[in-house]
Amino acid sequence: MANRFPDGFLWGASTSAFQVEGAWGEGGRGKSTTDRGFGIPGITDGSVASDHYHRWKEDVDLMAELGLKTYRMSFSWCRIMPGATCEPNPEALAFYDGLIDYLLEKGIEPFATLYHFECPQALVDEFGGWLDRRMIDAFARYAEVCFRHFKGRVKLWATINEQLIATASSVNTGDTETDPKRHQGNTYQMSYHMSLAEHRAFELLHSIDPEAKIGPVCAIQVTYPLSSSPADVMAALNAEEMEQFYMLDMSVRGSYSPYAASYLKREGFYPAVEPEDDAVLHGSTPDFIGINYYSSSCVKERTEPIVFGGFPPWGAGDFVLCDNPRLEKTEWMPNGLDPIGLSIGMRKVHDRYGLPMIITENGMALSEEPDESGAIHDEQRIAYLSAHIAQVGELIEQGYPIFGYCPWSFVDVVSSHQGFAKRYGLVYVDRTDDDIRTCDRIRKDSFYWYQKVIAGNQLPE
Ligand code: BG6
Repeated sequence: MANRFPDGFLWGASTSAFQVEGAWGEGGRGKSTTDRGFGIPGITDGSVASDHYHRWKEDVDLMAELGLKTYRMSFSWCRIMPGATCEPNPEALAFYDGLIDYLLEKGIEPFATLYHFECPQALVDEFGGWLDRRMIDAFARYAEVCFRHFKGRVKLWATINEQLIATASSVNTGDTETDPKRHQGNTYQMSYHMSLAEHRAFELLHSIDPEAKIGPVCAIQVTYPLSSSPADVMAALNAEEMEQFYMLDMSVRGSYSPYAASYLKREGFYPAVEPEDDAVLHGSTPDFIGINYYSSSCVKERTEPIVFGGFPPWGAGDFVLCDNPRLEKTEWMPNGLDPIGLSIGMRKVHDRYGLPMIITENGMALSEEPDESGAIHDEQRIAYLSAHIAQVGELIEQGYPIFGYCPWSFVDVVSSHQGFAKRYGLVYVDRTDDDIRTCDRIRKDSFYWYQKVIAGNQLPE
């Protein structure tokens, strides 16, 4: 498919604050839950991450050279509001002012996520974080400060990145529950509070800056049945309900589907709700949906009782996760490569909600080191991105409202589970987990390839 994408299509690239910025102790930043590590012992050096806090100007210059139309980044809540009193930190706002203004100067539209996994430690210490309803007001206060401060400059906002992952990992939430079933129950309560917080943010943005747009970001879990047995097909339906739609339904419709509600009640997971919640949940809607997609999953019928506490935590339900024998696997993509899955997932999301969509993350992880000449030949990443962009092109041709594509990630970042051993960037960062080295940037082959895609507004022939 070599058709041109629509004029104004937002070719972008993504990062998140805790994975790219570093500078934990600088600029008056508070602590974040993610400062304690990324889930794997030994991988703790997010304190430097990709050193973007010090190299943001060089990074924006690289974005401009690449031709990016948008940069999907996140604000660090604990940088902007270091303490439990939620007072804004002028040094942090000044840091982001510099970044946002320079992006605008270079013609790159900032696309800011408010919450990408990192919860301010001060709020966990004060009242336990997302398990507590006070988090909703704290988030609304943070969102309001950001919306007012960046009004007219940031016109694209995402609320919460991947509720599924944001609530599942105790590293992200600070949840100390050790009983696996109660821990699982906590994730639904946290998600419920996040949905309320999102709706408060939708409403706030729409009243503060009616020109701007806002939406949730969902890690879509495209799930296939292992066989054509009706029980496997039902298991796949159950998995999609509990791994993506229960969150998106709350973000968009403000209510759970009948299956999700009945599952939550059956397992004792139905969240504690307050009478005023309904008005909040039904008082606003998002303008678009952000789609994160890396690969698909496969499930079969559950014949044994559910065991909570396995990995991934969201794999416990009326289905059993299993290998998909039809997909090619790679070192860091154990579920397999599946570009068509992106189309399947986006069609389902569109058919359920009818909202515009943007791909907020899509990428190929590789172990990489420069060769003797200093180059990084990442043909596998180019093939991956090309195959997924081709799917996006077809969807657009068919009439699906997709307005942008942001590969993960712009530069190499600290992978949320495997540090710098696993890289996704279009730009290499010279460091390893144990050795900070120079943190210099090297353009990978995929950088030059993506530059051509953007310049031609189509896949190169
Ligand atoms: C998404 C996240 O889940 O996947 C990113 O939004 C993350 O923050 C990305 O880095 C890739 O996952 P991982 O675990 O390989 O870093």
